[in-house]
Amino acid sequence: MASLNAIAQRLVEPGKGILAADESEPTIAKRFAAIGLPSTEQLRRDYREMLFRARDAMREHISGVILTEETLLQHAADGTAFRALLADCDVIPGIKVDRGAFPMPGSDGEKITEGLDGLRPRLVHYASLGAGFAKWRGVITISSTTPTRNGIRANAHALARYAMLCQEAGIVPVVEPEVLADGEPGDHSIARCEEVTAETLETVFKELRLAGVDLSGMLLKPNMVLAGTRCAEKPAVEEVARRTVDTLLGHVPAAVPGIAFLSGGQSDEEATAHLSAMNAIGGLPWRLTFSYGRALQNAALVLWKGRAENLKRAQDAFAHRVRMNALASLGQWQPDLDVAA
Ligand code: 13P
Repeated sequence: MASLNAIAQRLVEPGKGILAADESEPTIAKRFAAIGLPSTEQLRRDYREMLFRARDAMREHISGVILTEETLLQHAADGTAFRALLADCDVIPGIKVDRGAFPMPGSDGEKITEGLDGLRPRLVHYASLGAGFAKWRGVITISSTTPTRNGIRANAHALARYAMLCQEAGIVPVVEPEVLADGEPGDHSIARCEEVTAETLETVFKELRLAGVDLSGMLLKPNMVLAGTRCAEKPAVEEVARRTVDTLLGHVPAAVPGIAFLSGGQSDEEATAHLSAMNAIGGLPWRLTFSYGRALQNAALVLWKGRAENLKRAQDAFAHRVRMNALASLGQWQPDLDVAA
């Protein structure tokens, strides 16, 4: 298990974090539609190539990139394999291995993530292609009737089975139980999110232990403790940081080397501010960093619009977000750094 721990440690190296670029086809189609583009294989390649070729930011501050199978096997426009581009930046390739979240049988609005069938040989294949880590996302929805005990347990159980299969294949599992902030109805309070996140993490670690997962060879990718996006009251940055850290301290064993948050629909700057405030608290048993999708890509996507002449500006915007979050991973981000830029 020493090598799993070594990979996990590298992924959360000080001043670095993970880029989540593993949008499924329906999700990337939605992102492209918002900028008036169809989702074609070539545009998906061009877009991700734009990100991966932001070389300085990638080299200095990105430890790993989560890819889809398409991107893991894809080549840049000049024929260079994306895997070679990432290796040149000293970035570890990771792979999203779940098949998405589907309506859970017998439940009113809850989801269960699929993809365990046939996962063992797929992981062996991904490891042979150089994947050092993997991701599986379980989704927990807050409403007046959810989550149920059954919904939390089913998702935690799937995460644990996935994690053990990853470790067996020599791949670091990134375990992602996401309590949605932007689900339906999304008007829950921060206190409710805290309670559900605590129960979810408690259940996930119970299942991980039962499955025999080595906690030193995995990473956790949780939500921050936030109010729902449609809640009337917006908690201050310090409250989010405090409640998130307290919840993690209560339910995440110190053996876990690192926690890399998802951004979950926060604005770019909120995601950065929250991460920095948590790291500024200090004295935590695990490293805290980012594994953002939207909060790293939003600005670049909007500037890019699929046009070659916008490439440089889009890359600059992406590099800026990467640098701001790298500072946040050290607890050193200040709002004026963003304003000045
Ligand atoms: P967001 O940061 O956009 O929430 O995405 C992260 C991710 O990997 C979700 O599975």
